[in-house]
Amino acid sequence: MDSNRVYIFDTTLRDGEQVPGCQLNTVEKIQVAKALESLGVDVIEAGFPVSSPGDFNSVIEISKAVTWPVICALTRAVEKDIDVAAEALRYARHKRIHTGIGTSDSHIRYKFNSTREEILERAVKAVKYARKYVDDVEFYAEDAGRTDNEFLARVVGAVIAAGATVVNIPDTTGYCLPAEYGAKIKYLCENVDNIDKAIISTHCHNDLGMATANTMAGLLNGARQCEVTINGVGERAGNTALEEIAMIIKSHNDIDLQTNINTSRIYPVSRMVSNLMNMPVQPNKAIVGKNAFAHSSGIHQDGVLKNVSTYEIIDPKDIGLDTNSIVLTARSGHAALKYRLETLGVKLPEDKLDKVYQDFLKLADKKKEICDDDILMLAGADRSHGQVVKVDWLQATSGIGMKPVASIGVDIAGEKFEAAATGNGPVDASINALRQIVKRQITINEYTIQGVSKGSDDCCKVHMQVEHEGRIFYGFAASTDIVTASIEAYVDCINKIHNI
Ligand code: KIV
Ligand code: ZN
Repeated sequence: MDSNRVYIFDTTLRDGEQVPGCQLNTVEKIQVAKALESLGVDVIEAGFPVSSPGDFNSVIEISKAVTWPVICALTRAVEKDIDVAAEALRYARHKRIHTGIGTSDSHIRYKFNSTREEILERAVKAVKYARKYVDDVEFYAEDAGRTDNEFLARVVGAVIAAGATVVNIPDTTGYCLPAEYGAKIKYLCENVDNIDKAIISTHCHNDLGMATANTMAGLLNGARQCEVTINGVGERAGNTALEEIAMIIKSHNDIDLQTNINTSRIYPVSRMVSNLMNMPVQPNKAIVGKNAFAHSSGIHQDGVLKNVSTYEIIDPKDIGLDTNSIVLTARSGHAALKYRLETLGVKLPEDKLDKVYQDFLKLADKKKEICDDDILMLAGADRSHGQVVKVDWLQATSGIGMKPVASIGVDIAGEKFEAAATGNGPVDASINALRQIVKRQITINEYTIQGVSKGSDDCCKVHMQVEHEGRIFYGFAASTDIVTASIEAYVDCINKIHNI
């Protein structure tokens, strides 16, 4: 084993997918898993099989679809979880069970009402039990970030003796400071006798914005696996972003570490995950944000024009961002669309491709040039099924010196309805009109509009979070018309409410 090789463990499909509203179906998960394989990740955490039949099935299907990476399934330190995970992994060519338990005093006392000795015993028992099924067992010490180092070292030593091949030290709450987290990893390297028999893994959350810094501190102090997600998606403020770690390691010649990541796949995979999860990437996100390579100040532009190295530390091509990428137009054929999608890592079955091509032609009618983000958006999640409520037509008028007004025609399970209303703008008027037809109590908690590329003929994406009877629902739509996209995102939420 090369001592400087860092193993990339991607948990987009497990920790990332736990985010409300980001759930993927099995077909979408396979698409992401294959993209992760093309990116060169070493381990794919495919799910938590005991948590739902959907997760169980996804682990099975991902195991069949992927060849090189290790497929990992999460469990608690519970025999039933481990049995189910082993069953879900049966088709994986390389398999790992990821089991563990909370080790901080807070988890031991409040979550388990237990003692340190009992937790140590349960940890060892779970690892031994998992080893009956697979040779590769990873143990996580949940809330290790707030666990006393001496006790953590005892747990780590005991689980390695029980057969753990990887020991994961999660900063579950994102609390640690980089120096503190680095010191924790160093402490384990220096105080666990059998530490050379296992790989130490980092797993950092971003609650205080330190996930990447903490992961790097862990790697610089001896960890050789890091658990990351694409675009940093994950519960609350998210997990460490894969693209940040990969590019830090690639750009810093002063850090003697290597990964297997094919960085030129970063941008397409980032966009694919964002589109499938309906999770926009913030424009100033490091590496993959829309503005990451945009130099707007005069001084910066002048420097970059003289020599890009003045202000640019990464060549955009290194992450697969081709600023000269081919643009498609209304005259581009089916084959050109297929080729472009495959270049971006999206391989669709013929029937889905036909549907995307039809949508592409409609969009190309309204927008001169179709860029990569547009077609990735069109190829994203399939929202056509389960639509009880459909908008037949919508007319909204607004302007200076007039009251915005909208009228709408809606089809609900084959029955036609019409209504009109005013509002403080065309979106508000349209939603008020729809509310006269669909009389459910729905509160809009979040409403974001984002342009896909550029220009006044751009396509916009609308993300909406609504609340109905104490439950949260997410809607998404895209259109060159902001009022249409907004009302369709609202209707997407209504259909999800109908489907429960
Ligand atoms: O954050 C965490 O502690 C986790 C574990 C289940 C690995 O996600
Ligand atoms: Zn986590």
